[in-house]
Amino acid sequence: MAKTRVQFVCQNCGTAHTRWAGKCDACGEWNTLVEEGTNSGIGGGPASIRSARKGRPVTLTSLSGDIEDAPRIASGIGELDRATGGGFVRGSALLIGGDPGIGKSTLLTQAAAALAGRGHRIVYVSGEEAVAQIRLRAQRLGVAGSSVELAAETNVEDILATIGEGKRPDLVIIDSIQTLWTDIADSAPGTVTQVRTSAQALIRYAKSTGAAVVLVGHVTKEGQIAGPRVVEHMVDAVLYFEGEGGHHHRILRTVKNRFGATDEIGVFEMSDKGLREVANPSELFLGERHAQAPGAAVFAGIEGTRPVLVEIQALVAPSTLGTPRRAVVGWDSPRLAMVLAVLEAHCGVRFGQHDVYLNVAGGYRISEPAADLAVAAALVSSLTGLALPADCVYFGEISLSGAIRPVAHAQQRLKEAEKLGFGQAVLPKGSEEMSGAIGSGAFQPATLTDLVVRIAGSLRRKTDD
Ligand code: TYD
Ligand code: MG
Repeated sequence: MAKTRVQFVCQNCGTAHTRWAGKCDACGEWNTLVEEGTNSGIGGGPASIRSARKGRPVTLTSLSGDIEDAPRIASGIGELDRATGGGFVRGSALLIGGDPGIGKSTLLTQAAAALAGRGHRIVYVSGEEAVAQIRLRAQRLGVAGSSVELAAETNVEDILATIGEGKRPDLVIIDSIQTLWTDIADSAPGTVTQVRTSAQALIRYAKSTGAAVVLVGHVTKEGQIAGPRVVEHMVDAVLYFEGEGGHHHRILRTVKNRFGATDEIGVFEMSDKGLREVANPSELFLGERHAQAPGAAVFAGIEGTRPVLVEIQALVAPSTLGTPRRAVVGWDSPRLAMVLAVLEAHCGVRFGQHDVYLNVAGGYRISEPAADLAVAAALVSSLTGLALPADCVYFGEISLSGAIRPVAHAQQRLKEAEKLGFGQAVLPKGSEEMSGAIGSGAFQPATLTDLVVRIAGSLRRKTDD
């Protein structure tokens, strides 16, 4: 028998080290090395290579030929189906990541019940909660009567034996991948080796039987349980379930999808009876808006294929500190620094003596550079104390030269704004034809200076009256 070798695997990046160290050489993280025994697989040493069997040639084939359309099972929960690209794909594995307590189990319980209601065989395996707890949740969600099959189990071999019996399930939900352990790997549950080996076994099961497998993974902010990051490479699709503490809405974001578009989002609201779909997210994010306050600008954004309007709030206040504060929630801080620098360098707006706070309302997170223009407008508005028009939306990317660059999907953004009653827009000079009601209320500055002059000009117009 091969001698068991001990190795230390970084729980952050998966690199194997021969001896323990406080810091991982590969990724630079501290305190992430954990002892894991191995006598097989990668790192198993020459012994396992020697005993390996001889390879068998496989038939090579061509790119052309018959393909089956990815067969999907749609849940009927619109926002979930949108994020997955039309439903769970048979024979594929999907990872849903998110902070603990965000609502992953709730979402999947609802999805399982919806699918079971459509006549599919659904197996829900929980390694975290006892059957009674899951039943309690199902009661709360009002789906206790559904035909979902339930198990509380953590051993992969046992799970595979269970679902291998009887009719093949259409969907298997594993909640969560961190709790699983397999006989093959001899390290503690939750370690990279265990998570990776368990995920591999389940993915192999999905590919070979044609059942869809959903893996739940907790991702902590500190990256303590790093398993899911390793799994991301192995699965066909990765969704993140996000939300801010104190806010009820949750966003299901697609970050990888081998069978559909990424950057799609599904929006939900957590209520006392589970997750409710939010078909029109703009109304949710603009819900608590106070018209006519300085420092607020509405950004017309795009998430995947869907326009989303959100309010960007800036507060620029005189600073008593040597180095003024810059704080950002919901946006990139380097991006804020860039917009501030362009305003200082090209538009003569000075922030050197001011603290700057930027917040995206409703706990929403923006990743588009198209928000630059709305951020700049909010900043100038707060600094000057001049409120921006309440019925105006902003979008456009700012380049370092101070020019305003066009962004994609201008028509879609304008249409959504119009639908929600906005009458004006500030947007880049673009290739697209202006049409619709906003057409006449559109302002298309070539540079950021034009916008600053316009906002400052509103003061002159006011004093002239
Ligand atoms: P859960 O799905 O257990 O989170 P996760 O699986 O991601 O760890 O959801 C936990 C939170 O959701 C918990 O704080 C309670 C809340 N919740 C509701 O607000 N309403 C509900 O109907 C349910 C079932 C949960
Ligand atoms: Mg859970």
